[in-house]
Amino acid sequence: MVKAYPTVSDEYLHAVDKCKRKLRGLIAEKNIAPLMLRLAWHSAGTFDKSTKTGGPYGTMRLQEELNHAANAGLDIALRLIEPIRVQFPILSYADFHQLAGVVAVEITGGPDIPFHPGRLDSDSPPVEGRLPNATLGNDHLRQVFGVQMGLSDQDIVALSGGHTLGRAHPDRSGFEGPWTTSPLYFDNTYFKEILTGEKEGLLQLPTDKSLLEDPIFRPIVEKYADDEDAFFAEYALSHQNLSELGFPDTC
Ligand code: HEM
Repeated sequence: MVKAYPTVSDEYLHAVDKCKRKLRGLIAEKNIAPLMLRLAWHSAGTFDKSTKTGGPYGTMRLQEELNHAANAGLDIALRLIEPIRVQFPILSYADFHQLAGVVAVEITGGPDIPFHPGRLDSDSPPVEGRLPNATLGNDHLRQVFGVQMGLSDQDIVALSGGHTLGRAHPDRSGFEGPWTTSPLYFDNTYFKEILTGEKEGLLQLPTDKSLLEDPIFRPIVEKYADDEDAFFAEYALSHQNLSELGFPDTC
């Protein structure tokens, strides 16, 4: 399916390019790539394809969505990137938040993710409860990613690899710890870690572990653990799909 990308002005494109550079500097300086990736993902992951509501349309700027339990800590993300946002008033919040996610992956050593600007800001935050619940299993993941967002089984596994970055915080989610020993490097160690069992000091959520129990998910986990290039290529496409949920298709 080919997306009908919005057309933006040369001035807008220039701002995207310049903003990307500023974000690289800030995210590197403050070591906040994981939080930025979570911001972009939680913004996009509320998309509901049946009602065409939610998704990466800038609504995380609204207090109502920030107050959703799943978004605990994302107020900090917004506060940290505000000094850059105010320099680019031409950009939508929607594009700005997705750009932060793309930069987070890139500057931690992950793949380049194609970025198409032109998302418009919505004033309607999604209803609460659309993001996945970490205590559930594969049926739930397929319900949220597949039925609700319209993404594939492969997208589920590739995007779960986002947990190669960052950590859980007891005061935000009730979970604690990083998934890997190198949480500021985007690589395929998340898949290696979940395949080799639990270790002291490292986290595996029930949803991470459940990937191993599924006959479709598990071989993809094994492929990514074995072949980082394959993970990077497929992650980049899945991340792009996530960040473009709700863009109209041309066919
Ligand atoms: C598969 C379903 C998912 C579940 C149940 C889930 C759940 C969680 C939970 C509970 C945390 C800890 C939050 C905290 O305490 O700070 C977390 C963190 C994180 N998640 Fe996910 N997540 C999922 C998918 C994803 C996806 C698709 C991405 C990105 C592609 C992602 C990226 C992250 C990142 C980068 C962090 C670390 C944030 C930080 O270090 O501040 N997650 N996730």
